[in-house]
Amino acid sequence: MSSSPDTVAREVARRRTFAIISHPDAGKSTMTEALALHARMISEAGAIHGKAGRKSTVSDWMEMEKARGISVSSTALQFNYEGNVINLVDTPGHADFSEDTYRVLTAVDAAVMLIDAAKGLEPQTLKLFQVCRHRGVPVITVINKWDRPGRSPLELIDEISERIGLTPTPLFFPVGIAGDFRGVLDRRTGEYVRFTRTAGGATIAPEEFLDAEHAAQREGSDWEAAVEESDLLSEMGQDHDEELFLAGETSPMIFASAALNFGVRQLLEALVELAPPPTGREGIDHHEREVTDPFSAVVFKVQAGMDSSHRDRLAYMRIVSGEFERGMVVTHAQTGKPFTTKYAQAVFGRDRSTVDTAYPGDVVGLVNAMALAPGDTLYTDELVQYPPIPSFAPEHFAVLRAESAGKYKQFRKAMDQLDSEGVVQVLRNEVRGDASPVLAAVGPMQFEVVTARMKTEFGVETSVQNLPYGLARRTDAESADELGRQRGVEVFTRTDGAILALVSDKWRLQYIEKEHPKLTLEPLVAAA
Ligand code: G4P
Repeated sequence: MSSSPDTVAREVARRRTFAIISHPDAGKSTMTEALALHARMISEAGAIHGKAGRKSTVSDWMEMEKARGISVSSTALQFNYEGNVINLVDTPGHADFSEDTYRVLTAVDAAVMLIDAAKGLEPQTLKLFQVCRHRGVPVITVINKWDRPGRSPLELIDEISERIGLTPTPLFFPVGIAGDFRGVLDRRTGEYVRFTRTAGGATIAPEEFLDAEHAAQREGSDWEAAVEESDLLSEMGQDHDEELFLAGETSPMIFASAALNFGVRQLLEALVELAPPPTGREGIDHHEREVTDPFSAVVFKVQAGMDSSHRDRLAYMRIVSGEFERGMVVTHAQTGKPFTTKYAQAVFGRDRSTVDTAYPGDVVGLVNAMALAPGDTLYTDELVQYPPIPSFAPEHFAVLRAESAGKYKQFRKAMDQLDSEGVVQVLRNEVRGDASPVLAAVGPMQFEVVTARMKTEFGVETSVQNLPYGLARRTDAESADELGRQRGVEVFTRTDGAILALVSDKWRLQYIEKEHPKLTLEPLVAAA
């Protein structure tokens, strides 16, 4: 029996679904662990950190699950915090940065931009931030590693305003320079929150609350400096404004040390107080599905081969509306076929109850979801189909070949599967033929993922040969012939039917656009 809309509305109101966007090494795993510690999912931090030789191939979260026995899927970590349900959706970071990350960001309602105090904005953070901006996802900024020497708060604030046009509105201002982190001034109450270190940063850092007078006595000029700089920000209008935050113009900012667990409670409170709860979504028919409407969900990630003994395929869906109950039969909007969800439980390992029922904002993994692809919609009752997930412009292109011609059948099958999972985009044309598809990727690591999976899951040795193209444009059948005659251009058909022209570089593209203004050459970015 499904719950009433009132129950669903109550569950939605206490949910927050977010992702951490950061450059490798800014402290995402450490912060994830610190959040789990504050949510009392683990009793001590340091399961992962401070230990040399951890395997880089195993996801940090899986490692954490093994070490601490908490409920973690490779994609989402769900925890309770003071009566709220928080979903932290993992963004694949590091070198395998790919389209996957973009898709994950379609499943969240807010993002935490984690910045290293000494390094400031770094390239991957910037890329991910642009995706958030494009999707209108509000961003909370965390300046991490404040326990280490770094830049000044105002310098970091200026860098963010100037380089990405996002105005930081610190909720808390650090007392003590980077490297001498004493506590924070709560800019909304004027109160001082003083932190105390714990041994190895393994447990929650005790906090002491002092009024301004006692803070000044305790910290002297460090307190005065924090008050002065905070006042300066207020004069410039850099105080939190919920409307501007939700509109993506400002970003509440927190100073933290994930390693010492300083500022972590402040981040959780900011998420609960300021980040938006899940909302409904508009279908392609322009009708909005409200969160309290019957069940619907969007598949945002498909992953195969998690378990080497079973060739399973997991589809992760973010629930958009209604209540999910394990075992319910839903309809797959793209094919109109029924899909039974009885294997929803396996994904969450030990903690079965978390996925017996789920609500909007939650992420549920479906086992053996062979027919599901990223962007697909599942629903019950009234038909709904959500817009496809934008596919981002690939910038790397390579030919993939099987080393042995005898493996062609497996090669073809594997290619189809990786294509439908969205691991890479697959392009073909008549000249190259079926045996030499061209892979198009956002990042070159995607090619390595393909060759590794070809070998381990399908037993096919493959080789990749990079192609000298740097960008792709969408074109049409009318323009294809003329484009095919241009130097530095090759025309392909993508599996979804789109006709793409690969061009060597932007100068070549500009030249062709100038010489042949009638040809269709449209950018691919966010072509939803
Ligand atoms: P990532 O997931 O974003 O890649 O970063 P991760 O948490 O693995 O952190 C990268 C390094 O930064 C780790 O050090 C981690 O301990 C350290 N770190 C994270 N947050 C803080 C912080 O608030 N303060 C300080 N001082 N360090 C922080 P490592 O030397 O690479 O590993 P380990 O030896 O500590 O495990």
